Amino acid sequence: MTEDPGRPAADAGPNVGDTSASRSADGDHATRRLPVMDPISPPGGTAAAAPGVRLPGATVPTGATVPTGATVPTGATPDGIPVIDLADGTKTYATGPSSVQALRGVALRVDRGEYVAIMGPSGSGKSTLMHILGCLDVLSSGTYRLSGQDVSAMSEVDLAEVRNRRIGFVFQQFNLLASLTAWRNVELPLVYAGVERRIRRERAIAALERVGLADRVEHRPGELSGGQQQRVAVARALVTDPDLVLADEPTGNLDSASTDDILALLGDVHAQGRTVVLITHEADVAAEARRTVRMRDGLIHDDTAVLAGGVR
Ligand SMILES: Nc1ncnc2c1ncn2[C@@H]1O[C@H](COP(=O)(O)OP(=O)(O)OP(=O)(O)O)[C@@H](O)[C@H]1O
Ligand SMILES: [Mg+2]
Repeated sequence: MTEDPGRPAADAGPNVGDTSASRSADGDHATRRLPVMDPISPPGGTAAAAPGVRLPGATVPTGATVPTGATVPTGATPDGIPVIDLADGTKTYATGPSSVQALRGVALRVDRGEYVAIMGPSGSGKSTLMHILGCLDVLSSGTYRLSGQDVSAMSEVDLAEVRNRRIGFVFQQFNLLASLTAWRNVELPLVYAGVERRIRRERAIAALERVGLADRVEHRPGELSGGQQQRVAVARALVTDPDLVLADEPTGNLDSASTDDILALLGDVHAQGRTVVLITHEADVAAEARRTVRMRDGLIHDDTAVLAGGVR
């Protein structure tokens, strides 16, 4: 038996079954759907990679930039370059003869170290925007620069690599692999980045210590509370030292005590210099952020920052 974890397909993350890569007959960019909706996927797509095996094209093996200490330095974005720079972004879903314009010319800039909540009614385009920001999908038109890098027209393989290197995801459903212990879950993004095993373990455990789970590293998800599972997911999101932490309804499955716990943790993540973008339906969750972006009908219709003293 090897020491490296297997990668059970059955619980390998959200939408992993969605392997439909379709383009319309005319190759219309707008109708393109990416097969890779698994954010914790290896560069190269949903194909199960043998963990521990250096993946071709994985250019992020450097363990040296990932912190192991208690304080988290900011990501690699140089000062002055926004982490998110989205210009005139549109997204059209073509389904059969009809099409839906889910984003209708969105401009959004998020600077390094910001904490932004995205709110809006159902169908307003929040998840679509999140998929674009997370490099899980591509724009129909417009430009998206992530930490200065234009990712608008990247191939799926390159997008997967950007995701792995630059973005940490936290989801409502935690998306942990049930068969793996906490630290094995946390090390997965490093496995896909080709980091050597000893360093992966060190960093995974350091990340779990940072989220207050030093005494749970060998527990499997089923042996942890919901709040603890989400802490593991936060540790996994941080372990690669990402430029951006994207949280999609991260407290949606938690009771109020665990919600407070995770919000406090995300607050710490932000206080340590991280850029955090959080999607939420709940005003009290959004209140934790320093800026709230409200969407309606595929557009941003309100963008409010908290001024000094907490005044909006
Ligand atoms: N894969 C898809 N194919 C076709 N239409 C889609 C697809 N995904 C989303 N849409 C449509 O795009 C619009 C925006 O959807 P989106 O999921 O971004 O909304 P949302 O703001 O996240 O809503 P909710 O709060 O309900 O999650 C909706 O009209 C939706 O029906
Ligand atoms: Mg949604």
